[in-house]
Order: sequence, then C-alpha cells, then structure tokens
Amino acid sequence: MAILFCIYALLYVCSSKGILIPPKDISVSAVFAFGDSYVDQGNNNYIVTLGKCNFPPYGKDFVGGKPTGRFSNGKTLADFLAEALGVKDYLPAYLDPLIQDQDLLTGVSFASGGSGYDPITPKIASAIPLSVQIEKFKQYTEKLKMNIGEEVAKDIIKNSVFLVVASTNDLLYSLPARSLEYDAISYDNMLVKLALNFVKEIHKLGAGRIAVFSAPPVGCLPALRTLAGSPLRKCVDRENKAAQLFNNMLKQKLQSLTSSFAPSRVAFVDFYNPLISIIENPYQYGLEVTDKGCCGTGEIEVVFLCNKLSPTCSNDSKFLFWDSIHLSEKGCSIFLDQILPNLIKSLF
Ligand SMILES: *[C@@H]1O[C@H](CO)[C@@H](O)[C@H](O)[C@H]1NC(C)=O
Repeated sequence: MAILFCIYALLYVCSSKGILIPPKDISVSAVFAFGDSYVDQGNNNYIVTLGKCNFPPYGKDFVGGKPTGRFSNGKTLADFLAEALGVKDYLPAYLDPLIQDQDLLTGVSFASGGSGYDPITPKIASAIPLSVQIEKFKQYTEKLKMNIGEEVAKDIIKNSVFLVVASTNDLLYSLPARSLEYDAISYDNMLVKLALNFVKEIHKLGAGRIAVFSAPPVGCLPALRTLAGSPLRKCVDRENKAAQLFNNMLKQKLQSLTSSFAPSRVAFVDFYNPLISIIENPYQYGLEVTDKGCCGTGEIEVVFLCNKLSPTCSNDSKFLFWDSIHLSEKGCSIFLDQILPNLIKSLF
C-alpha cells in the first residue's frame, strides 16, 4: 500500500508543472463541498446577503470572464480539487436553478460565503448555516435516489470526496464578537466540537471520504493585516495563534475519529502551514505579491467593496490573493499542488 501511495504522490509532483493529472487507480464518483466562501460556487447569488460577488471584476479569468458568484478571479479550491480527482473541471452551486441532473451525479457545492461552524457566524453574515447545508444535502440525496435508484445513489455518495472548509469566518468575526463569553481556547474548543459533529453527521449520511480543512493563517489575510497589523501590515499574531490552536486540536480529534470511521476515511487538510510558506517565499512559488489582493488597493476590498469601479493589478497570476480575503485562481492551484499528495494518501 505504502508504495502505491508513493507512486500517487510522485505522479502529482511530476504533473504539478502543468495541468493536474488524476492518479489512474483512483475513482471518485463525485465531489461535495460544504462551508464558506472558499468553496461557495455561487450559492449566495440566490439568497439575500451582502456576501456575494456575482459582478465584475470577480470571475474575470473564468470561462467567458463570467462572474459566477465564486469568490475568486477564476477557479476555486473546489473546482481544482474536482479536477485533480478526475471528476470534472467545475463544481457547480447546488442552488443554481439551471443545474442539470447530469451535474448532480458528479457533485455540487452547498457552501455559502460568510458561513462557519459557530451558528452565530452565518447570522452575522446572512449566510447559509451548516445545518441548512446538511438539509440541502439530504434533499439532494432524495432527488438522486429518485433519479437513479437508492443503491446506485448510495454508492455514489460512498465513493465521493466531501470537502469541508469552514472556521475562517468564525475566527475572523465571531470570536471577537463573543469575546465576553469565550477566550481563544474555549472558543476553539467549541469550534472543534462543532466541526467533529458536522463530520459525524455527513458520515452518518453515507459520506465515505471526508477532507476537513484547517483554518488558514487568518492573521495574514490582507484585510486583517490592514485592520490590525500595525502600519507595517504585519500578520496579526492573535488571529494566527487562535487559528493554530484550533488546527492542532482539530488534527488530533480527527485522527482519533479515523479509526472508528474505517473503512471510511477522514483527512485533515493543513490550510495553514503551506500558505505561510507561500506567503513567506513568494518567488519560490512563482508569485510576487502575498500580502495584498489584486482587486483595488488589495488592502481591504472584498465582496461589494471589490466591484466594477475597482482597478485590478496588472497580472493576478503573480498574486496569492485575489481580494483581501480570498485566494486568486493561481493561489488556489499553487496551494493544492502542495497538499494533494498527502490528501490522496489519507483519503485512499
Ligand atoms: C503573468 O504572470 C505569469 C506568471 O508569472 C506569467 O506566466 C504570464 O506570462 C504573465 N502574463 C502577462 C500578461 O504578463
């Protein structure tokens, strides 16, 4: 087994200069995404919220330059992951009314920009709570069973990869909002419990392979540098510490869950250290700017503040961040290159 996994890892390394080529021996039926804006493929277009971005310059590098509601200039982490797993090039949003039965077979995203594990988070941001994302998934499952029969539907779900990307918004605005009730440790403890409950719930609904993202270095997001990083716009220590604490606890708890889940798999995806490495060594990754986004000044613009009046940088392939919170398309692909070999190893 170990040797096979090394071969997978090698395949990825060899292919990382060009388009990602999925390892031949892996067959994934579908990809499902839950969580926040890093994997919201346009669901927020269909709800009442300020947290949307279905207008230029978002999507300027997407097919046809179309702003789809993805929080990016182009493809997102979810798109690249679906592509890398050999499923499809673009993961659609479940709430898209134009979605086809064919799209449903290979997976969708239920994620919503502004959401998080803490139930307060989607309230603050008018986003779709994770509990509702689960309800939508159940609704989806029923539809799938009606279309293709119960057994086939179950098989698809079992052979799919479930992406869970949340906690950034919790740490970004709910932790400060709850600072009278919680310190970072007790808050992170609560978040980890909520994350584990979420994972257990989708597992109960048949999910066979679950990839849970850690928190990114929240304190290094361009917006945080501007708001709290002193005039030098340094990474903010307090937010990064809270993120690391959450990540360490999450990693441990997921590891202990792994054995009780067998033969299902659950993977911890380190969204923190690879990003720190990219942020600190931009040139090593073919980038130039990692402390500002490409949209507007790059220091604060995000969602409605990044709009058609915002000038954009001359080459967003040199920027890790597209806006002051979200990765650029290039940033997403560079990050995924870093984590894919390990992710494959823990999921298959
Ligand atoms: C933008 O940057 C990328 C990466 O460095 C480079 O490959 C590409 O040629 C650049 N595009 C333009 C128009 O300069």
